Amino acid sequence: MKKIEHIGIAVKDLDAGNALFEKLLGKKHYKTEEVASEKVITSFFKNGPNKIELLGATAPDSPIAKFLEKRGEGIHHIAFEVEDIEAEMERLREEGFRLLNEKPKKGADNKLVCFVHPKTAGGVLVELCQTIKSEA
Ligand code: CO
Repeated sequence: MKKIEHIGIAVKDLDAGNALFEKLLGKKHYKTEEVASEKVITSFFKNGPNKIELLGATAPDSPIAKFLEKRGEGIHHIAFEVEDIEAEMERLREEGFRLLNEKPKKGADNKLVCFVHPKTAGGVLVELCQTIKSEA
């Protein structure tokens, strides 16, 4: 795995979350993107080499809504950048990690993603993400 690509933070209200993180980081978010398949709306901030992803629920049965109910607002996942997501998924499977999706899926901000179950990863929801290369 390469660097931490971003940290995901669950918020109850995306507008309020944006306002808070704009104040905290001293800069504006650079995009908002809905991931309909996950029932989430995301907002991204760049801060130096790091990224913060705010996550809001778009439906009561969204995984984010469930997380907020159980844990409240706060850090939701840590995402690591990988070169070859399929190879990394295979490696983690062999190491005994439980993956939450069988195949990489399309995530926000031009990434292929896969999540690792927190129960097998020290209580941390881990996201693998590989940048989708644009076809030249
Ligand atoms: Co993420």
